[in-house]
Amino acid sequence: MKIKSFETISSTNTYALEHFDELSDFCAIIAEQQTQGRGRFDRRWVSEGKKNIYLSFVLKPENQNHLVNLTQYLCVVIAKTIEKFNLSPQIKWPNDVLINGKKICGILCELKMKHNKIQGVVLGVGVNLNMEKSLIETIDRPATALNLEIGKDVDKQEFLDQLIIEFEKGYLNVLENGFFAFREDYLKRINFLGKEIYIQQSDGVQKEKFVAQKIDDNGYLIVLTEDNKEKTILSGDLIL
Ligand code: BTN
Repeated sequence: MKIKSFETISSTNTYALEHFDELSDFCAIIAEQQTQGRGRFDRRWVSEGKKNIYLSFVLKPENQNHLVNLTQYLCVVIAKTIEKFNLSPQIKWPNDVLINGKKICGILCELKMKHNKIQGVVLGVGVNLNMEKSLIETIDRPATALNLEIGKDVDKQEFLDQLIIEFEKGYLNVLENGFFAFREDYLKRINFLGKEIYIQQSDGVQKEKFVAQKIDDNGYLIVLTEDNKEKTILSGDLIL
């Protein structure tokens, strides 16, 4: 995979979207630091410190049938990479990776459109590899970093190499087969089925209460409403 590296950039996702046409398919944009790291729902992504991962994959596949599954696939890839450190990360639907209930990684997938046509996606990921506890504590929800979990610094290059190798391994299979390509790998890392959960569509709006039933063949979440009706949740934030 071709990699374009920057020292400091506003956001690897923003850069990839703005330069999409001139970037080749299946390349990665990496930055040492971001000044305006972005998360889902217009949240900010803490991007200080050069020892964390800020990466965006630029993907322009011909077969666009399973683009929606790429975020969940990347989530499995990150979980597998973290498992090499003898930890047991959990996946929180749709695409957060947690350790002991604390978020260590975030994924932001953005479609690149032109004249109402999808050109491809920018699949961005931030992984907290080496962070001071005091910086983690400024984040307004439970978060952690790999160094804090294993008690020593993490080699960023090694983690990055592993992550990219793991991503390359299953990518074509995902384009071809969607959620089926990694269904087992995803399901064995989730632990909220059967439990009461809340779904929030964006920050500040009312959250809805459900019981999580299953993940369907497309990777969507099936829940039971309070009046016992099945409902398919396509996106949102799951709150345990
Ligand atoms: C989230 O959990 O809300 C998603 C966070 C995504 C952060 C990554 S860091 C690299 C890429 N560039 C950005 O500005 N955001 C993503």
